Amino acid sequence: MKEINSIGIVGAGQMGSGIAQVAAVSGYQVRLYDAFEGVAGKAVTRIGSTLEKLVSKGKMEQSACDAAVRAITVVNSLEEIAQSDLVVEAAVEKVELKKELFRQLDQLSPADTILASNTSSISLTEIASATRRPDKVIGMHFFNPAPVMKLLEVVKGYSTSQETIDVIMAIGEKMNKVTILAQDKAGFIVNRVLDPMLNEAIFLLEEGVGTAEDIDNGMKFGCNHPMGPLALTDLIGLDVLLAVMEVLYRETADSKYRPAPLLKKMVRAGKLGKKTGEGFFKY
Ligand code: 3HC
Repeated sequence: MKEINSIGIVGAGQMGSGIAQVAAVSGYQVRLYDAFEGVAGKAVTRIGSTLEKLVSKGKMEQSACDAAVRAITVVNSLEEIAQSDLVVEAAVEKVELKKELFRQLDQLSPADTILASNTSSISLTEIASATRRPDKVIGMHFFNPAPVMKLLEVVKGYSTSQETIDVIMAIGEKMNKVTILAQDKAGFIVNRVLDPMLNEAIFLLEEGVGTAEDIDNGMKFGCNHPMGPLALTDLIGLDVLLAVMEVLYRETADSKYRPAPLLKKMVRAGKLGKKTGEGFFKY
């Protein structure tokens, strides 16, 4: 089985920086790249202060914190990212952008490099079609916040090989995650169940069935969810939820997946949740 020592991460936003933290703490050498200058550097600073907090709470040794921060190198090009044994793409959910990234990574990387995507909605089979190595293209779907959530959903594209799946499952275990395997169908496993529920909560708000607080309290205290569906949508990003619902709706042509009009309207207004300071709640 291919040995993985270094992981290159493309995209240093919420998910990319979370994945970088998980990888570094798990003993991998990490290269972190973001197309926007300064973003990756800021992510490393943020990871450093998160880990320092764990040290001050007595949950991490100072030496482990220092080693994890040292293990992350900010790089400025895809050429440098392509030197890694595994590349994990965590860029925005735009199919053409992801295909172009994978086309370039395929050209720049050695033939045996595995190319993974953290996509929450886009077909792995389609992303793989931009490369000459569809057997080595796979989904590594982390959950937000990546360092806290225990799950890694591994997604098999049409041509993904069993060997590639085995390598990624072993990495998931080394990262101390519970791994599940999903086939390449819209929403995979978790978002197929979760996102229609979040979308339904937005319909409830729009129809005036309850206030945002009451809808969230209903699910928190009636179903023991750690956060209410509207607060969770704010955390993952309204744009991310809309992207998944649009894929589910388009792929199945089933009206049960139609995105709530209020969700569309808020995305158009730039109210994307926590990351923009306002969604269903203010931050
Ligand atoms: N790194 C390491 N540890 C972290 C951390 C980080 N970045 N952020 C938080 N933590 C730790 C804290 O230290 C804390 O540890 P402790 O309880 O041992 O002291 C623990 O995580 C909980 O953090 P907080 O006390 O700050 O906050 P809460 O207890 O309120 O929990 C939460 C926050 C974990 C986000 C919880 O509310 C939760 O589980 N919410 C649901 C999240 C969820 O469902 N995510 C999946 C979204 S779907 C998705 O991502 C898929 C996508 O494709 C759409």
